[in-house]
Amino acid sequence: APSDPDLVARALAAKQALGDRVFILGHHYQRDEVVQFADVTGDSFKLARDAANRPDAEYIVFCGVHFMAESADILTADGQQVLLPDLAAGCSMADMATAEQVEQAWDVLEELGIAERVVPVSYMNSSADIKAFTGKHGGTICTSSNAERALTWAFEQGEQVLFLPDQHLGRNTAVRQLGLSLDDCVLYNPFKPMGGLTADQLRNAKMILWRGHCSVHGRFTKECVDEVRERIPGVNVLVHPECRYEVVESADYVGSTEYIIKTLDAAEPGSKWAVGTELNLVRRVANAHSDKEIVFLDKSVCYCSTMNRIDLPHLVWTLESLVAGKPVNRITVAPDTAALAQAALEQMLALP
Ligand code: 13P
Ligand code: SF4
Repeated sequence: APSDPDLVARALAAKQALGDRVFILGHHYQRDEVVQFADVTGDSFKLARDAANRPDAEYIVFCGVHFMAESADILTADGQQVLLPDLAAGCSMADMATAEQVEQAWDVLEELGIAERVVPVSYMNSSADIKAFTGKHGGTICTSSNAERALTWAFEQGEQVLFLPDQHLGRNTAVRQLGLSLDDCVLYNPFKPMGGLTADQLRNAKMILWRGHCSVHGRFTKECVDEVRERIPGVNVLVHPECRYEVVESADYVGSTEYIIKTLDAAEPGSKWAVGTELNLVRRVANAHSDKEIVFLDKSVCYCSTMNRIDLPHLVWTLESLVAGKPVNRITVAPDTAALAQAALEQMLALP
């Protein structure tokens, strides 16, 4: 639906009044009505880097989810404020690893005497506490665009990796890009003693995968891929690495949201694509390329409900609060946590 013209005018007026004092970041899963006001759009990696490189902006308005705003707060200078237009925009995957659970898992590894050879690698989609845990134990953060480099680096530092919290990104990267076998990976269930694993399983695994997943990408199945290939002969299947292993195995191309967009931008006119990621993104690229056939991989609609919480009314409310000098929804990370998390984030930014 077209955006409410009154809200569009208010957003423009607020942006103009603030000028360079505000910088608006928009993740690729954001609604069109929000993306039209973003100074920059990107995947998680690009947005983290862009937030870190905007020292002049007094305010960073993060149109994305909570863990992204926390990471931006950690990477920006002390005087800068990061705002999340709706505080309820979380990420169900990030919530699947709590600090307490992860500390308990580390205790298990310490009791087995293997903690010193385990390197934690945490997906960007995690709380600041998990990032701090990662930094404290000499690990790195990764995103879907640098997971291979992060794992390669981690295996140079130690013999085993504890990968948090997305089992699928961890497994897909380890098996498909590092050449490990499925048997090298074990699944750690935080709700069971010792993760539901034996001491030998924990000792022998190369990858200890946390039992987390994305509920949006978890909906794509191998059957979706088979069905679309039958329905659209010659179709190219392009998916995000948060999809399950068998989906990624049966796809033609796999990558981050930024990679997905670049691949579709560069595709030949007349080519056909079925895309397995969030729907706002797929619809926007499909609309931008009417010369290519771009369809959603699943038959049912599939938004990320928390990404979608950021809408134009919330953005206008946030921008107008800045104009009024009374910022709302500031995201801050406690200094001790931020220092440790920053070490893990900077390790990611320094990956070769
Ligand atoms: P990207 O880093 O590929 O943008 O992914 C972020 C995300 O939340 C995917 O679900
Ligand atoms: Fe989290 Fe999945 Fe939404 Fe990405 S798409 S923000 S991983 S719930």
